[in-house]
Amino acid sequence: MVTGGAGYIGSHAVVELYQAGYQPVIVDNFSNSEETVLAGLQAILGVAVPCHRIDCADVEALRGVFRAEAGIEGVIHFAAFKAVGESVEKPLAYYRNNVGSLLALLAVMPEFGVEHLVFSSSCTVYGVPDALPVTEATPTKKANSPYGATKQMCEDILTDVAAAPGNPSPRVILLRYFNPIGAHESARIGELPLGVPNNLVPFITQTAAGIREKLTVYGTDYDTPDGSCVRDYIHVVDLAKAHVVAVRRLLDRTAADKVETFNVGTGRGNTVLEVVRTFEEVSGQKLNVVLGPRRAGDVPAIYADASKAAEVLGFKTETSLADSLASSWKWQLSLGE
Ligand code: NAD
Ligand code: WQD
Repeated sequence: MVTGGAGYIGSHAVVELYQAGYQPVIVDNFSNSEETVLAGLQAILGVAVPCHRIDCADVEALRGVFRAEAGIEGVIHFAAFKAVGESVEKPLAYYRNNVGSLLALLAVMPEFGVEHLVFSSSCTVYGVPDALPVTEATPTKKANSPYGATKQMCEDILTDVAAAPGNPSPRVILLRYFNPIGAHESARIGELPLGVPNNLVPFITQTAAGIREKLTVYGTDYDTPDGSCVRDYIHVVDLAKAHVVAVRRLLDRTAADKVETFNVGTGRGNTVLEVVRTFEEVSGQKLNVVLGPRRAGDVPAIYADASKAAEVLGFKTETSLADSLASSWKWQLSLGE
């Protein structure tokens, strides 16, 4: 079961899971995605992926899916609201949806004997780190948004539930994603931001496409190589593949611990200005760039120590920043057709 499987990362994970021999079943309420994603998946895979349009915070509806799709062996739980700024304005909606959907899953999974769960966490749990790169042992900090708090709460809930006595209790892999970018090479699926994008790369591609007038670089006075913020941008297909190895590890029962945590990033940090320059090179588009003030709440610099995922999961990213940005641009152009 792939909750949020119609979303940006979930849809790419569905492709990689299917191509690795799994039979994904999507659960999504389309609160932040379009049904056209299903046609994109069918075009890539040549088959229709089963999809249940339900709210996964709805326990009874979830039961219905587990009943209808007998034999579900594990869950990847992507479904959540993810806009940091919106979470400050609507905290209750974020706690209800993000924590509520996890609680519903944890209530229903044992009823159907389902013990394996991969959870979408985020590098946001590290806050502003004291040292770089961040390892899984880097202390988490108090979240600076309700969105970030939901990720920390969900990690804590899963850790406590997995440790509790009783059978079956879940075996869990927490994947802390860094900044996913790019789209499937077919350009049949990709990121579909609703309204004005908050994230850098969709803003860049929309500016290049003439949808936005200019790109503002938020801050050029940070203590970084060129003064702009540093992030670890991971291609979404690489990120999707991390879910396949995580699922395999859970189903193989290889892990000694009932909860394991992995950073999923490239291990490289790039500045905003590097991303802009690289995009201009690969797309041949000149961006209208304005150097602006800092954005409130931004972390100056963060990137992953990706060695645990490499050593334990055998997971390594394959796609360069340039190729990732080229795929974002190809996707943006496909939207205009
Ligand atoms: P997305 O919004 O594209 O996908 C989430 C999907 O979940 C959407 O299709 C939405 O309709 C669905 N959904 C939301 N609430 C639901 C509910 N209650 N029931 C059923 N479906 C529901 O987001 P994404 O970028 O693909 O993110 C996936 C996960 O990864 C989220 O948990 C997010 O917090 C996490 N994450 C994302 C990023 C990022 O930058 N994109 C970074 C770190 C972590
Ligand atoms: C990247 C960099 C901006 C837009 C957010 C969430 C985080 C995680 C990933 C889910 C920053 C700069 C951006 C623009 C800019 N999501 N920027 N001009 O802030 O690293 O992380 O998404 O878990 O929790 O906070 O990503 O893409 O918004 O920004 O200069 O128009 O680009 O300041 O340095 P961020 P982002």
